Amino acid sequence: MQNPFAYSNYVTGDSFCNRKKELSELLGYVKGSQNVLLYSHRRYGKSSVIQQLFQEIKGKNLNISPMYVELYGTISEKDFITRSFHGLNQLESNFERLLQSVSNALKKIKLNLNIDPATGGTSISPSFEAVNETLVLEELMNILSKYSQKRKLVIAFDEFQEIANYTEEGFEKRLRSFVQQHQNICYIFSGSQQHLITEMFNSHNRAFYKSAESFPLDKIESRHYIFWVQKLFSRKHIHLPAELIEEIVARFENHPMYIQNFLFHLWEEPGERGFSNDIIDKIENAIIEKRSLEHTVLWETLSINQKKTLKLILLNDGSNLFNADSLKSVTLKTGSLVTKALSSLMKKEIIVKNGKYMIQDIVFKKWLQKTLSL
Ligand SMILES: Nc1ncnc2c1ncn2[C@@H]1O[C@H](COP(=O)(O)OP(=O)(O)O)[C@@H](O)[C@H]1O
Ligand SMILES: [Mg+2]
Repeated sequence: MQNPFAYSNYVTGDSFCNRKKELSELLGYVKGSQNVLLYSHRRYGKSSVIQQLFQEIKGKNLNISPMYVELYGTISEKDFITRSFHGLNQLESNFERLLQSVSNALKKIKLNLNIDPATGGTSISPSFEAVNETLVLEELMNILSKYSQKRKLVIAFDEFQEIANYTEEGFEKRLRSFVQQHQNICYIFSGSQQHLITEMFNSHNRAFYKSAESFPLDKIESRHYIFWVQKLFSRKHIHLPAELIEEIVARFENHPMYIQNFLFHLWEEPGERGFSNDIIDKIENAIIEKRSLEHTVLWETLSINQKKTLKLILLNDGSNLFNADSLKSVTLKTGSLVTKALSSLMKKEIIVKNGKYMIQDIVFKKWLQKTLSL
């Protein structure tokens, strides 16, 4: 029987747990063509919620066409445009029709047709020959605008913070000027690096200032996991007690990816006679072990004061960090060293402040506890 749990890419359908409230709110924005800024830490489920939303929209015959553009790894305006052109495929079920409507909309640039030799799949990309990118962007936006006159569109730019690193002068501003003209398109700007993405939308000197409804994506609540996990395990005729599911969710502090990762391995265990604590511990340790190289590398990039500050956080459960005894326990001489280290660690998103200071990645936290013998 196929393992229904997955953790290396986005999940939808049966592998997607709940998020009913988020989906319904997002659908409201899509219907109203209201732009949304969807953000969270990495691996909380942004791409998944977008893909699930798109599937539901398609299933409901709402006459709204979704288009998903993955911007991760793009490093220039040209990349942005090329990825977006590839995305146009999603707006037509038929390649000839796509070609036709795109060619009709284009005035100043030529198109290239691409055939993927491996899959035989077809896509289009713009020719950048003898024109500058500004013009190609304009043509792309024209195509989208034309499409949106026939039916509403929802366009997700995933990992949108990437555009902040492009070096082309004024790209954000140009993009924004098109976006604001598109009354029939809901743009979902999705991003992981919170300081980058929120800065793009919250500082008044940036082009996208206040141009989208803020939508922070939280972790998934424990109670939502119970029914979902039980239902999937019942396929194997295994009943997982609610307490066990709560225990797993708590061990990973509700982090969606790690919980799927855990459940994936639990599924592979013979569970007819229930799961012992040893099995639960074994799987948890395997997850920590699997990422230990990544975490060692991260640890080695930190300064000694940052390392001490992490230890300080763990020893004091994230509060009272500046008290003299606490500082002494990790041999940090002054509070100002802590202030400085905290600020760097927050910038790197290794820690977050939520009343108290916390290590953001729960598996990194577990690795630290082991490594520092706490
Ligand atoms: N609604 C969900 N239900 C269950 N697991 C989820 C859900 N959303 C995300 N996950 C888990 O988290 C992982 C990362 O999700 P993803 O959507 O790629 O996050 P992001 O785009 O925020 O980085 C998925 O592979 C899956 O294991
Ligand atoms: Mg993602």
